[in-house]
Amino acid sequence: MANDASAVSEARPSAVPNGALADLFTPPADSSLWRKNFLLGAATASYQIEGAVDEDGRLPSIWDTFSAKPGKVLAGDTGAVACDHYHRWEADVDMLASLGLEGYRLSIAWPRVMDAAGAPNHKGLDFYKRLLNRLKEKGITTFVTLYHWDLPQHLEDRGGWLNRDTAYRFADYADLMSRELAGTVDAWATLNEPWCSAYLGYGNGHHAPGLADGRFATQAMHHLLLAHGLAIPVLRANDPASQKGIVANIGRGTANSDSAADQRAAHLFEVQHNAWILDPLLKGAYPQDLFELWPGTEPLVLDGDMQTISAPLDFLGINYYFRTNVASDGAHGFRDVPLEGVERTQMGWEVHPDGLRDLLIGFNRTYRNLPPIYITENGMASDDKVIDGRVDDTQRISFLKRHFAAVDQAIKAGVDIRGYFLWSLMDNFEWAFGYERRFGVVHVDYSTQKRTVKRSAELVAKFLKERRAQA
Ligand code: FCB
Repeated sequence: MANDASAVSEARPSAVPNGALADLFTPPADSSLWRKNFLLGAATASYQIEGAVDEDGRLPSIWDTFSAKPGKVLAGDTGAVACDHYHRWEADVDMLASLGLEGYRLSIAWPRVMDAAGAPNHKGLDFYKRLLNRLKEKGITTFVTLYHWDLPQHLEDRGGWLNRDTAYRFADYADLMSRELAGTVDAWATLNEPWCSAYLGYGNGHHAPGLADGRFATQAMHHLLLAHGLAIPVLRANDPASQKGIVANIGRGTANSDSAADQRAAHLFEVQHNAWILDPLLKGAYPQDLFELWPGTEPLVLDGDMQTISAPLDFLGINYYFRTNVASDGAHGFRDVPLEGVERTQMGWEVHPDGLRDLLIGFNRTYRNLPPIYITENGMASDDKVIDGRVDDTQRISFLKRHFAAVDQAIKAGVDIRGYFLWSLMDNFEWAFGYERRFGVVHVDYSTQKRTVKRSAELVAKFLKERRAQA
């Protein structure tokens, strides 16, 4: 199946028409995105695409357990098969290359590569070796995330991210991976979106492992960040040539009115979404405002932890999706006040490219040591359908154009942004929303696993082709 050529038959950039839409999509001549060293790629994550959850010694992860529980995931979907990428990886790499994408951000499934005693699982490791070697052969820059939420269930059984020991187990895992994969990885990201792991996983229970307690969220966050900090020197020692960083999701919060209370609410929203992660990483301290919002949730922090967590980074990955309009909740917090009449995606998320620009410019002012930035995820879900063999994802085309412009504006305002990864290469298992929400620039028919390149991907491919052709 891995060589199923029909799966990529529609992935040819030659199918791109030279119509008006293409001209509208192409960034203006003065855009920073024309720079050849601005990396343009696509991203995925292991549990969302691989499937093959029982194969070659893979152990269960917290997402296998969570998605099997009734009511946790829309339509009862699970990642058991997903995009069957574990078997179709070769054709998927060909598809990525045929689109001319220059970078690929993938994640490794921890439960695939280590057994419960911490010994390597060579069959699982070989899968990633083959994949990364092929990407290198194709000249694609590789960004590898070590933890995109699929914690081995046996570690959750011992407390998961509430147990400090998980941070040390993560460092062991980072050690194994960087010894085994050194030379095939251009950039390592320790964690994807610790906010989601800590808050959605342990704070409100919307994600695996499904626990809901404010104190759990802050303690889980501390152990996640500690895991990151412990892993960074290990990665540096084992794979000195690669870049090392972390990926954070960021949220724009705007105030519903000019009142001091609503302004404060918007500030607290951004503290909770951004400073909670970025302050410890870049300032070595948690923002005190967080504990005004969530009184009594200070995590247990041991001597030296904050130094470990704030080890210098080579890059910071930023994932951005939408803005939230908030008002004071009348106490010490905020409440969402959804705006009427604004453009939204299939997720209900507001399309707000200025939020990305404004946050990046703000971080550049707030954090003097802000590392070079990669936009490691940006994109949108739409209810895409294949009609006569084509997918016209017009809203996504417009979304991408506007977010490319926001990135360019931030660069021109002085932010060091080196690249951008589309979320996602292909439709996949969208966590609690299962397969209904389609984020891909390539459509996946889950009944046949057929991939169909969407119009948005054709236009990105056309732009990259033009960029490569420039003198
Ligand atoms: C991010 C996740 C990614 C995907 C997008 C839509 O929070 O990192 O896996 O689900 O949202």
